[in-house]
Amino acid sequence: MDYDFIQHQIEKLACMAGRMILNADRTALSDVKVDTKTGRRDLVTSMDLEIQQMLIKELLELVPSSRFLCEEDVPSMSDVVITDADEVDQGVCFIIDPIDGTANFVHGNRHSCTSIAMTVSGETQIGVIYDPYHDELFSARKGYGCTLNGEPLPVFDSSMRNEITVFGTAPYNDRVNEPTFELALRLYEASADVRRTGSAALDCCWTACGRFALYAELSLSAWDFAAGKLIAEETGCIVTDLSGNPLSFKGKPSILCGRPTAVSEFKNIDL
Ligand code: IPD
Ligand code: CA
Ligand code: CA
Repeated sequence: MDYDFIQHQIEKLACMAGRMILNADRTALSDVKVDTKTGRRDLVTSMDLEIQQMLIKELLELVPSSRFLCEEDVPSMSDVVITDADEVDQGVCFIIDPIDGTANFVHGNRHSCTSIAMTVSGETQIGVIYDPYHDELFSARKGYGCTLNGEPLPVFDSSMRNEITVFGTAPYNDRVNEPTFELALRLYEASADVRRTGSAALDCCWTACGRFALYAELSLSAWDFAAGKLIAEETGCIVTDLSGNPLSFKGKPSILCGRPTAVSEFKNIDL
């Protein structure tokens, strides 16, 4: 498999998705249809569906035997879509979040992205995330580092003491509300300040490029972190669940993504 070529094509598709997001944002956000899924905070728009369909179609042409683990339901493509994350272990799979930060997109908050990971036999080999609002393309290949708009990102370590940290609110799981805000308080106390951005994929990317020293959230899905995990790891971050276990595509694990020193400082916090 020509990984360089595939990575480049995935980058182009992520940028194409970004143009669709920008176009909707600038010209016709009110035409975008918004529905709820599992609850009032869990939104899906017609743009999520359009982008996901476009990506599946184009990626299938790129790697014809591949399958897809995606956030949204697209019944017309059910023959290539997998719903059981166990199946990621076989062959080539693309793990896609067409819009990560859908609530931001709906409310015009302009902090969203498209996230695409390519796994081979269960291992993420390529991770690409494009943020159209900042025109920032993060792209990583396992073992070959990560770039931001084509420039290699450095591998480095950092404490969180004088750096910003970020947390996610796990908005589709009300059972973790209290521990989530306990976590936010502890991060605030241990670091320079804390943020909540509304895009898990960009939280990983912004940690990868040093804007945050550490990112934590109590419940995510595979499409939220698959590409971002590789992007962060390729810049020297450690990415596990909050107990330090390897992240699984199955279920809804927590995430801890940060510089090695920041991660050890986090582990000393009494949560
Ligand atoms: C959500 C965002 C958010 C995170 C949630 C995710 P979506 O993804 O990444 O930051 O807190 O856990 O589900 O729904 O916007 O694709
Ligand atoms: Ca998401
Ligand atoms: Ca999404």
